[in-house]
Amino acid sequence: MARENACKAVALEDIDDGAMIDLIVDDRPIVIFRRGDEVYALDDNCDHMDSPLAGGEVDEYVVTCPWHGAEFDIRTGENLCPPASGPTPAHGAFVEDGYVYVVIKDGTEC
Ligand code: FES
Repeated sequence: MARENACKAVALEDIDDGAMIDLIVDDRPIVIFRRGDEVYALDDNCDHMDSPLAGGEVDEYVVTCPWHGAEFDIRTGENLCPPASGPTPAHGAFVEDGYVYVVIKDGTEC
């Protein structure tokens, strides 16, 4: 994974395994999901009516929008069911030295 423009976001230990955390990264609302030592980052937004995804239910690799139940794959942002009609942008994310880094798609240098 490209490490250019990686933004140091949060300590891995600050995200419970299986949970998520919402943050502002590079001036953008992001939700980071942790599965063991793997992390995934999506825009914290559902395209249906702009709900934040943080606060929704998450089961394995699927997050459910807390407002009306659209589901998204946390690994890719793919929309899995209505009422959302499109994907949520996914960003690069990795762990290094105990910290989660996010590479915002089309982002600026952090
Ligand atoms: S705002 Fe997400 S399903 Fe309606």
